[in-house]
Amino acid sequence: MSNKDAFFQHIEEGYKTKGDYISMGAAMLNGDPLTNALVKIPLKTLNRHGLIAGATGTGKTKTLQILAENLSEKGIPVLLMDLKGDLSGLAQPGNDNAKIQERHTKIGFPYEAKKFPIDILTLSEQNGVRLRATISEFGPILLSRILDLTDTQQGIVAVLFKYCDDHQLPLLDLKDFKKILQYCTSEGKEEFQEAYGRISTSSTGAILRKIIELEQQGADLFFGEKSFDVEDLTRIDENGKGIINIIRLTDIQDKPKLFSTFMLSLLAEVYATFPEQGDSDRPELVIFIDEAHLIFNEASDALLDQIESIVKLIRSKGIGLYFVTQNPTDVPDAVLSQLGLKIQHALRAFTAKDRKAIKLTAENYPISDFYNTSEVLTSLGIGEALISALDEKGRPTPLAATMLRAPMSRMDILTDTEVKQVISTSKLIPKYNEVVDRESAYELLNKKIEKAQTEEAQQKAKEEQKKTSRTSTRKSSAMNPIIKVLTSATFIRGVMGILSKAMR
Ligand SMILES: Nc1ncnc2c1ncn2[C@@H]1O[C@H](COP(=O)(O)OP(=O)(O)OP(=O)(O)O)[C@@H](O)[C@H]1O
Ligand SMILES: [Mg+2]
Repeated sequence: MSNKDAFFQHIEEGYKTKGDYISMGAAMLNGDPLTNALVKIPLKTLNRHGLIAGATGTGKTKTLQILAENLSEKGIPVLLMDLKGDLSGLAQPGNDNAKIQERHTKIGFPYEAKKFPIDILTLSEQNGVRLRATISEFGPILLSRILDLTDTQQGIVAVLFKYCDDHQLPLLDLKDFKKILQYCTSEGKEEFQEAYGRISTSSTGAILRKIIELEQQGADLFFGEKSFDVEDLTRIDENGKGIINIIRLTDIQDKPKLFSTFMLSLLAEVYATFPEQGDSDRPELVIFIDEAHLIFNEASDALLDQIESIVKLIRSKGIGLYFVTQNPTDVPDAVLSQLGLKIQHALRAFTAKDRKAIKLTAENYPISDFYNTSEVLTSLGIGEALISALDEKGRPTPLAATMLRAPMSRMDILTDTEVKQVISTSKLIPKYNEVVDRESAYELLNKKIEKAQTEEAQQKAKEEQKKTSRTSTRKSSAMNPIIKVLTSATFIRGVMGILSKAMR
């Protein structure tokens, strides 16, 4: 048997699937694709997470597009974080041309131009469905992690949440949180001291400064009502196609803190909301994060821990997470080690550091009798990638340098008119874009302060009249009440917020 025949057989056997799958393209040997040596990803393994990496311009975003449209085609909803704004083209059919025809002839199946149902979501005031979350939903733990608080500061945040919970003070936006933060050391000082121990203004000041930093990245737009119901991410259209939810994040590149805040809250909420899946033959939702280095680069250790644990846990809910980034080393090892599908586009060897990274990347792929992996990594063309997946039994499939299919949808962005068209037909816009201004902690505390001030004035007047003096007989509790609150079982159950399960 020739080497070529042996390779064909190796790929055919290694990528055999019983259930449904996505064809990515054809495996290549010595730089040429073998027609019909198809590289197939079983739907069953798509909740096992993945990575799409490669130098700039090698085709990562198009690979993401290919996966997204094929998932939609199979009725699986998708969520895309579009940081460069280059994914909206999914809503229009692609342009057939001679080059694409040639690519598909080599691969072994014809090119089809198709469009897919999309919804455009936004964190800012751009056109699109507004994505928001309330501070209460966020919970004290996540908020502390995002703000990178010390243990003492975390204790205070936990107490503030508990207080608001006990006193029915909804914490909706940052204005509410700043109000309670200020209240606990001013008008509410005695009340807090009695119940929870003294809270120092230097600690609340430090927390406030961190909140302001977050606000400067535009977080005030993100926190508030109406909060987004993550179940709306799993819609299927009338033709049975999964809806592709595209979050436009073009204005978030220079706001890494806001991006990680949002990402983490979304993942935590998805984790808390979706039911356990057991052994399912397809994912419930697949999430792609383009330019993923942005979440990891600026994340604190606490935040990284949190991301790692969510990545680990979310799989059982049938959610697949796919990171797209230039270099695999952008992704922390603990996350990398959990990824089932790896699609590695070409890497460039300009510097000694590059060569080291290439060697390291090659070592992380299964050994192949047919390839010198480091050589393949530097010689792949645009729209070609090394693929290593998992078969339906969870075993690694053979390493395959793959000529990828072309996206069925447009490889370019939508025009402004087309974007308007998508937005005008969105079913979510009426639900989420109305302005809600419910009475929350800010207003309620202001009322309380006002009431207390009038009562105090009345009381003073009475006392003046009677001209009698009294002394306070309040005693503070012996044990540090903050610790008491933090360890009480009811508190843990009630106030841990959306991450409670993930934390155990
Ligand atoms: N599968 C493919 N089929 C046909 N053409 C492709 C394919 N993948 C990539 N290309 C071509 O390569 C170009 C660059 O691809 P893409 O934008 O996906 O690169 P990228 O790796 O995401 O780049 P960047 O790092 O700049 O974001 C595309 O505009 C397209 O012309
Ligand atoms: Mg890209």
